Amino acid sequence: MNQFFNTVSPTATRMIRMDHAYVMAQFHKLEPGTQHTVRAAIVRSICNALEIHAQLEEEIFYPALRSAGMSSPELEKSVPEHDEMRSLIDQLRSAEEASDEQCEALNKLMNAVMHHVADEETKLLPMAEQQMAPEVLADLGARMTRRRMEIAKPRATEMAVDMAVGAPMKTAAVAVGTLFAGALLFNKLRRGNGHGTSASDTTSGGRRYAGTGSSGTERRYGH
Ligand SMILES: [Fe+2]
Ligand SMILES: [Fe+2]
Repeated sequence: MNQFFNTVSPTATRMIRMDHAYVMAQFHKLEPGTQHTVRAAIVRSICNALEIHAQLEEEIFYPALRSAGMSSPELEKSVPEHDEMRSLIDQLRSAEEASDEQCEALNKLMNAVMHHVADEETKLLPMAEQQMAPEVLADLGARMTRRRMEIAKPRATEMAVDMAVGAPMKTAAVAVGTLFAGALLFNKLRRGNGHGTSASDTTSGGRRYAGTGSSGTERRYGH
């Protein structure tokens, strides 16, 4: 099983960049005039992707940095910044769709994400790649992939539908857990080995997203 996850998972730092790229790409799809149902699906995708990503970092990636003796102001403020994002996500979900209140929360969330992503991609990820061996980053990536499947399972259907409606892009698959492609691959491998397993036990990964969009520039969205 570990061999499988090591084979299909990106390294931890690559996975984090991929997640960032996915979320920023979703934000940039929210342009004025976006169809109502598409907009709602994109907003749900952003919320789900951010929550899963933050939990993976907090449970696996950040503790691994600390265990390896790393420290930095960016690492110290990472969880409080995640909490700020969670608060904005709560506001997004409770606000009426496309209302002024929701647009305001969306603007705040995007700006918070951009600054957080910029810190991680310019400080934390390079620090991890300099101080951790490639095989350690690979193992962390495998653990994160396994945990992603557990976290994503209860919302797999919603995420798959939203992906189809609001994010029909091939890069979406890895960011939200590659719930189906990975499961199909894994089941096929397991059947080949004479084992059965739940589709929710696995995922795949490895695709690289182009650019994070974390430019630090502000952008506002209307309805
Ligand atoms: Fe991150
Ligand atoms: Fe983070």
